[in-house]
Amino acid sequence: MAPLSHLLVVLVLLRAAAALDSGGGGGQARYARVFSFGDSLTDTGNALHVPATSAGPASRPPYGETFFRRPTGRASDGRLVVDFFVEALRVPHPTPYLAGKMAADFRRGVNFAVGGATALDPEFFESKGLKPFVPVSLRNQTSWFRNVLQLLGSVHGQRKITATALFLVGEIGVNDYFIALNRNCTVGEVKNFVPHVIGAIRSVVTDVIAAGAATVVIPGMIPLGCEPQLLALYQGSVDAEGYDPDSGCITRLNDLAELHNRGLRRMISGLRRANPGTAIVYADLYRAVTDIIVSPGKYGFRDRPLAACCGGIGAYNFDMAAFCGAAGTAACADPSEYVSWDGVHFTEAANRRIACAVLEGSYVADAPTLSMSWATTETGRRIRCVG
Ligand SMILES: *[C@@H]1O[C@H](CO)[C@@H](O)[C@H](O)[C@H]1NC(C)=O
Ligand SMILES: *[C@@H]1O[C@H](CO)[C@@H](O)[C@H](O)[C@H]1NC(C)=O
Repeated sequence: MAPLSHLLVVLVLLRAAAALDSGGGGGQARYARVFSFGDSLTDTGNALHVPATSAGPASRPPYGETFFRRPTGRASDGRLVVDFFVEALRVPHPTPYLAGKMAADFRRGVNFAVGGATALDPEFFESKGLKPFVPVSLRNQTSWFRNVLQLLGSVHGQRKITATALFLVGEIGVNDYFIALNRNCTVGEVKNFVPHVIGAIRSVVTDVIAAGAATVVIPGMIPLGCEPQLLALYQGSVDAEGYDPDSGCITRLNDLAELHNRGLRRMISGLRRANPGTAIVYADLYRAVTDIIVSPGKYGFRDRPLAACCGGIGAYNFDMAAFCGAAGTAACADPSEYVSWDGVHFTEAANRRIACAVLEGSYVADAPTLSMSWATTETGRRIRCVG
């Protein structure tokens, strides 16, 4: 049953990709709502309700300038991957949990992701002399999920809601690694975090499956070595051989992301065997992003894919002391030419490309044949995001 249910999910996602491009067309939605967990790559407004981040960069212009024309709490100039998913699936935008009030808000789907959130609890970091950016871990997000379930009524009613939801768990974990790397931990030290981070993600996925989830999409780690923030941080301390010749990214940091992704995929395989009735899909963000960085022109990006659009100066347009939104900083003229918005987060254009790639099936594991046949169809060629 498991392979069949994966195919089904991929098929639905492919239909969604077609919808994203054509902006319409028939087909009854298989999903009625989205529940999402994660960090600033997925947060659509929660961080504005957390005191530590309520006045953070994403609360100020130029955040949101491209699409919403105002800051919404999203860490981008416009929409995030989750926004493109819900548009493609034609379901409501999930209510940011901390902005919701009553059951009706939550029945439309809920976004539990918080900018700065970690997979692991604060105690883990404190035991290593480190401090999280915000007091929110996956444990908070799962307890919020349980609160929501209770608000939604009887167990039978809850299951009707979870079974018709698409669960998006991740990306999550990038802050766990950032916190340590920013405090001079070695990559080797940070690699020891990986099994803990994967364990925390596994625990969320297990919880949502126990609550009746039929489909769980798990995006993997992004290529950390291509993040302008980390490229700027390590500038001068990495020698020439430390950079990948094709991408210009830092190999050691990308190795950390790949280690995370291998662990994630092993964990997912185990969960699939244990839960044959649930479709568990791995979304390969690492490849989606590195493909853009290696061939930016192919996807409509300009030739400096490792420089941030908004913020500082230097080779990567990044300076922690002049973060996007701070006095004296400015956004580039055309964010759609850039992959990185502020040195940490992606532009709307990159998010769109990533979402399309995942929806097309090209970066969804376990469906290689299907995505090949998809690419050769008329509909496939019509998709703007094919490149
Ligand atoms: C997350 O949970 C911890 C521990 O229960 C708590 O101290 C913290 O305030 C929670 N965060 C938020 C934003 O509610
Ligand atoms: C990390 O190391 C650099 C260079 O040795 C130093 O300037 C910086 O203060 C250190 N940062 C922390 C948080 O320890």
